[in-house]
Amino acid sequence: MALIEVRDLVKEYKLNVRNRGIMGSLKNLLIPEYTTKKAVDGIDFSIEKGETVGFIGPNGAGKSSTVKMLTGILVPTSGTISIGGLSPYKDRKKNASRLGVVFGQRTQLWWDLPVSDTYDLLKHIYKIPEQVYKKNLDMFSEMLDLHNFIRQPVRQLSLGQKMRADIAAALLHDPEIIFFDEPTIGLDVIAKEKIREFVKQINKEKGTTMLFTTHDMVDIEKTCERMIIIDHGIKIYDGTVDEIKRNYGRERILAVEFSEADLNIFIPGAQLTNEKGNKKWFRFSKDDIQVSELISTLSQKYTIVDLTVEETDIEEIIRQIYQGGIHLSESLSGVC
Ligand SMILES: Nc1ncnc2c1ncn2[C@@H]1O[C@H](COP(=O)(O)OP(=O)(O)O)[C@@H](O)[C@H]1O
Ligand SMILES: [Mg+2]
Repeated sequence: MALIEVRDLVKEYKLNVRNRGIMGSLKNLLIPEYTTKKAVDGIDFSIEKGETVGFIGPNGAGKSSTVKMLTGILVPTSGTISIGGLSPYKDRKKNASRLGVVFGQRTQLWWDLPVSDTYDLLKHIYKIPEQVYKKNLDMFSEMLDLHNFIRQPVRQLSLGQKMRADIAAALLHDPEIIFFDEPTIGLDVIAKEKIREFVKQINKEKGTTMLFTTHDMVDIEKTCERMIIIDHGIKIYDGTVDEIKRNYGRERILAVEFSEADLNIFIPGAQLTNEKGNKKWFRFSKDDIQVSELISTLSQKYTIVDLTVEETDIEEIIRQIYQGGIHLSESLSGVC
């Protein structure tokens, strides 16, 4: 049996239907009406000890709902979850010491206290032995540069500092499994990189099992070997990151702003997909043409004001999976 086993997991939310006007308000009060929203629609997966799994999907796909059920915060509508043989919501207390959770949009740190005070409190709550606590704190301070702000109240920290402090807090008690829910959301590229590096290193050094939700494909490429893609509460892929990388995202979009409009530009191997004023968008494949080559060809002939290369995002990958544009080997894919 795998460390984490999820079978036919469903989460429905009950929503109040709001009628408008005075009569509507009266009706809302006397005969409330409800609809249901299926956020997670029958998901299955297993995760072995030591795996790093990226759980990716667009906003509203059902990622946070799944993580909340895995941690025992939410009770599933139906289906089963087993974490090391225990149910997260029935055996919440027993599971607590084995799990660590980081929510990118919510902090577990005490807002008005210095970060170090939260850590002291966690040490007592989890009964972390002095040696383990000290060793972990030293290690995380070093890896996440906590020294600079550990004595500051949380409310004074930047988003990136708060996130790093939160990640260390979730790992102080040496959990066997850690769930990250969008830990890089809202962060700049450098802050994101730091977190990705840390996640990778912790998995390597401590063998911690990790589930990492994100809507950012780069997070997954840099931290995980396996990925599960969900869309509208349904699993549409479960396999290696390499396979997705081989199949998707050979294409890039180059957006260029020229100094003048009405230029007639032809680039062999690239296709003009859109134009607006001085700006033009070209689609090209990494296999046919190098970005550097493309930029140098253009800049030799024209004056470029601004230029960006857009990576394929998760929405595009999902579109390609549905259209059958990504040919996944059957043994690995879980495309429904
Ligand atoms: N507490 C809630 N009550 C009602 N609907 C919710 C609630 N939480 C999430 N949802 C809805 O469920 C769907 C999945 O949400 P969520 O699990 O947060 O997705 P994700 O984390 O992938 O963005 C969304 O349509 C969202 O609006
Ligand atoms: Mg979410």
